[in-house]
Amino acid sequence: MTALLSVDSLCKRFGDVDAAKDVSFVLDSEEILALVGESGSGKTTVGRLIAGLENKDSGEVRFQGHLLPMTYGQKDFLRWGREIQMIFQNPLGALNPFFSAADVLAEALRFARSGKAMKRSELSSGTDFWLDAVGLQSSHRNRLPHQLSGGQRQRLVIARALCMEPRLIVCDEPVSALDVSIQAQILDLLRRLRKERGVSLLFITHDLNVVRQFADRVLVMYRGACVEEGATGDLFSNPQHDYTRHLLETCPVPAYQEPPA
Ligand SMILES: Nc1ncnc2c1ncn2[C@@H]1O[C@H](COP(=O)(O)OP(=O)(O)OP(=O)(O)O)[C@@H](O)[C@H]1O
Ligand SMILES: [Mg+2]
Repeated sequence: MTALLSVDSLCKRFGDVDAAKDVSFVLDSEEILALVGESGSGKTTVGRLIAGLENKDSGEVRFQGHLLPMTYGQKDFLRWGREIQMIFQNPLGALNPFFSAADVLAEALRFARSGKAMKRSELSSGTDFWLDAVGLQSSHRNRLPHQLSGGQRQRLVIARALCMEPRLIVCDEPVSALDVSIQAQILDLLRRLRKERGVSLLFITHDLNVVRQFADRVLVMYRGACVEEGATGDLFSNPQHDYTRHLLETCPVPAYQEPPA
């Protein structure tokens, strides 16, 4: 079976820094793969390369068997940008301050339909559908980003990504700026959505507690390179690489718990 995403020897240099060095991994449908490693290890770079937001120096990224371009042009964003979405730590920065929640979703729904005209009633019901899908209410429709809480803003950004019907969402520290209780709600939402909507997540985080609860598999990066990869339970109970051991030791975490089915 073809993997949803397969990354082979991906490289990216910034000046004399290897931000990604021979990075290879695969990601299956409906799988959650965590990308961990210390600050500057190249996690965001790998996410951006896969989402086409950064040009690749060398290596291959295949999505559903198709080779993705090294450099994205406008057509490539139309072709792949919907299926591979990316969400970030700071939803406020990702939202137009003058767009209400309904405006954000209407714009995304139009893009999802390649700019084809949509009736007002269609846009309105689509907006309500996606607000509801991420646990927002119709009363949030007309709110501007600054009139939503941090958790609500992240839900809105998730709704905007989801209405493109993506197969993959690259999540770069999506809960790091949120309170722990809100983090748990957003993680629950993402976990539910991957089943309901059939999406895979490449989940970038420095928080190993989140990884334990949430990810199926983990990829550990160090200075641009993958040093270890494994099923979450195995990696935590039996780390193979010194760097992984170091990472686990410096971040004490409670005993591993199976994520709820
Ligand atoms: N646009 C850029 N120009 C120059 N150097 C960059 C650029 N983006 C990233 N880098 C460098 O590439 C390396 C990897 O950065 P990256 O942001 O991918 O790390 P990260 O693992 O996401 O770190 P963090 O956990 O702090 O977010 C760092 O040394 C960084 O300074
Ligand atoms: Mg980063």
